[in-house]
Amino acid sequence: MNTSITINNNPIGFFDSGVGGLTVYSKFRNKLPNENCLYFGDTKHLPYGNKTKEELISYARFILDFFEKQQVKAVIIACNTSSSAAYDSIKDSYGFKIYPIIQSCAKILSELPIKRLGIFATPATIKSGVYESEIKKYNPDMLIYPQSCHNWVDIVESNGQNNPENIKIVQSDLGMMLKNNPEKIVLGCTHYPYLLDILSKFTSRDRFIDPAEYFVNYIAEDLKENKLLNNNTQAGYEKMYVSANPEQFKIAAKMFYEVKELPELV
Ligand code: DGL
Repeated sequence: MNTSITINNNPIGFFDSGVGGLTVYSKFRNKLPNENCLYFGDTKHLPYGNKTKEELISYARFILDFFEKQQVKAVIIACNTSSSAAYDSIKDSYGFKIYPIIQSCAKILSELPIKRLGIFATPATIKSGVYESEIKKYNPDMLIYPQSCHNWVDIVESNGQNNPENIKIVQSDLGMMLKNNPEKIVLGCTHYPYLLDILSKFTSRDRFIDPAEYFVNYIAEDLKENKLLNNNTQAGYEKMYVSANPEQFKIAAKMFYEVKELPELV
């Protein structure tokens, strides 16, 4: 038996607290359509952004153990909060590659030709300081303005982007950030690209960076270098899982990805 074929065609596992990671997943599917993919939305524990480090490590371990049983060849942490709080503790515990979004994108963010960079992220991500420390490893002179956004994930998961109260919340948080006059603002939570239409009512859309594009290019290059790309010539399969509310997941996902089959409840 050719083991390399067996490993290459094994699925890649993605996870996030909910629909946010689909902003990464949809770009990944476009870039590498032949890969077999699993997606886990940990909707039972939403939002991750106000959980403790210990809780976030235990959720990540549960999901990685689940993926391990499904014999994944790699796991993509399509969640900034989990990358900031759990990645360091779990990275050496599994026999497959693990790609965390923040650590994978920090170098490219540090090389942007700008001096002032804003970061919008969840309270847990901001508290960890990981965005700042990772970017400063490569560019200590970049001025970084981290700001946590308290209700944004709930707005997205409840599909509440059109509610005027929610628009006011986003506008007010953005107003605080703009006082620092950042040249670019990273959407450092995978749910936030769902709010781009609101954000760009108040400032230019190109001011925002969704790191998903950088992340997906990074993963594709790394899989190639490590000879881990799938060698199928047909579209890969996908299977989605959630830990609660599969119907709501399908509805909230719509803006970024059409979930065809109702996710399986785990
Ligand atoms: N979308 C996740 C992130 O990128 C987690 C959001 C949350 O559940 O608070 O941080």
